[in-house]
Amino acid sequence: MAFRCIHREFHGMRSALLIVLGLVIGIVGTVFAMNALHDREPFSHTVMTSMSHHAGALSAAVKAQKCDAVQSRQHLSRLLETQADLSEAFPGVDQPFQDEITKLHDKTQAALQAAPADCAALAAAIKPIGETCQSCHQQYR
Ligand code: HEC
Repeated sequence: MAFRCIHREFHGMRSALLIVLGLVIGIVGTVFAMNALHDREPFSHTVMTSMSHHAGALSAAVKAQKCDAVQSRQHLSRLLETQADLSEAFPGVDQPFQDEITKLHDKTQAALQAAPADCAALAAAIKPIGETCQSCHQQYR
């Protein structure tokens, strides 16, 4: 009898332990999930800030009338590379948003292919890019 009694008590302790363990796992899991949610938001800012840096450098060059072909190509190709992260930065967006991303990609690629060698060419090449940034911001920002 005494043995059975201890045995039952042991079972009770074990299930209590399992409940505590379950709670700890649950809390840790929630913390990780929340971190993942927080990470996603700043990433979209990171992508935008990086695009803004390269687009800004190009328009600053035009304003200063100092347009170097090699530098322009570098900024344009980084601007294009950064855009590859847009879908990841904004997961689950609707089709019109996706279309804006595609439009930005097409305009940036066209500017890169135009290989602007002077300020007039660079100004003409980045104008459609700036218009695409603006049209998406007007709708979604
Ligand atoms: C497909 C839509 C879309 C396009 C195209 C787009 N943006 Fe954005 N942008 C957004 C949205 C949405 C936000 C606000 C949400 C966010 O920052 O997470 C934003 C925010 C920003 C911000 C503020 C970031 C911050 O930290 O608050 C900057 C700067 C920016 N965009 C620059 C640009 C530049 C430069 C271009 C063009 C080269 C561009 N964006 C093209 C959708 C777009």
